[in-house]
Amino acid sequence: MNIRKAVIPVAGKGTRFLPATKQTPKEMLPIINIPMVHYSVMEAVESGIEQLIFVTSSGKGSIENYFDRNLELENFLEQNGKIKELELIQNVSSMIEIITVRQKEQLGLGHAINCASPIIGNETFSVILGDDIVRGERPATKQLIEVSKKNNGKSVIGVMEVPNAETYRYGIVDGEFIDDKRLTLLMKAMIEKPKPSEAPTNLATPGRYILSGNIFECLNEIPRGVGGEYQLTDAINMLASRDEVYAHKFDGDRFDTGNIEGFLNATVEFALRDESTKELMLNIIREKIKTYGIKR
Ligand code: G1P
Repeated sequence: MNIRKAVIPVAGKGTRFLPATKQTPKEMLPIINIPMVHYSVMEAVESGIEQLIFVTSSGKGSIENYFDRNLELENFLEQNGKIKELELIQNVSSMIEIITVRQKEQLGLGHAINCASPIIGNETFSVILGDDIVRGERPATKQLIEVSKKNNGKSVIGVMEVPNAETYRYGIVDGEFIDDKRLTLLMKAMIEKPKPSEAPTNLATPGRYILSGNIFECLNEIPRGVGGEYQLTDAINMLASRDEVYAHKFDGDRFDTGNIEGFLNATVEFALRDESTKELMLNIIREKIKTYGIKR
């Protein structure tokens, strides 16, 4: 069965980016001229997703507006002969069908995903967390969908190796590799943000999941976990005790844009990867090095 729906939770407060996020959703902060959330939506579209569910909260209206048409701006651009710009904004509003649901209280990622349950029903669906942008030849979500299809439509958690010292920042997966290339694992357990000394592996999820509809039963049963929140990781761990859940090391460069360092890194890197801004960015860097030098 095709995986048609993706959930993108966007209800968080974005406190690491205050004061910008006092009025603007973190998801709308741009890497150069493209809002972060656009990358998540693009990944969904490029992975064959047909319907997208944003889990939002108050103050997030600009995300919906961004993916909607803006007829006044379209008319303005048309009348002024700005056809390239017109196409650019029309492309954004025709990317994909979008539905929004509200998370009325901030009770954690598990709770946020559970808010989408009336729209998902019992289908297998994808979850994309926008704090991480993954760029590569094949979209990360598409790679996970392929692994799920190969394994009877079961759940698949996208993972990557992180330094041992950083396990406390992620959901960490434990399991046995099932292929010669050591890319896919049958999951034994998943633990939310373990201390390095308690982490069974260094395989972390940067927020890419394919989940079977059975996850909702687990989300309804789990108690509050780390930070007093309903954790998606705990529900996945419960699901893994009842059904096969896989983890897969996907290909691609990952940018952790949920913090200032990763955001800066993505900004510089994306400017360097784009031919229209590459020379500009290189010149800026050369000038800065002349001015500030390089500390060794
Ligand atoms: C969430 C998840 C965690 C995952 C991380 C990826 O944590 O709970 O399992 O590894 O996203 O970004 P958060 O970063 O929201 O605290």
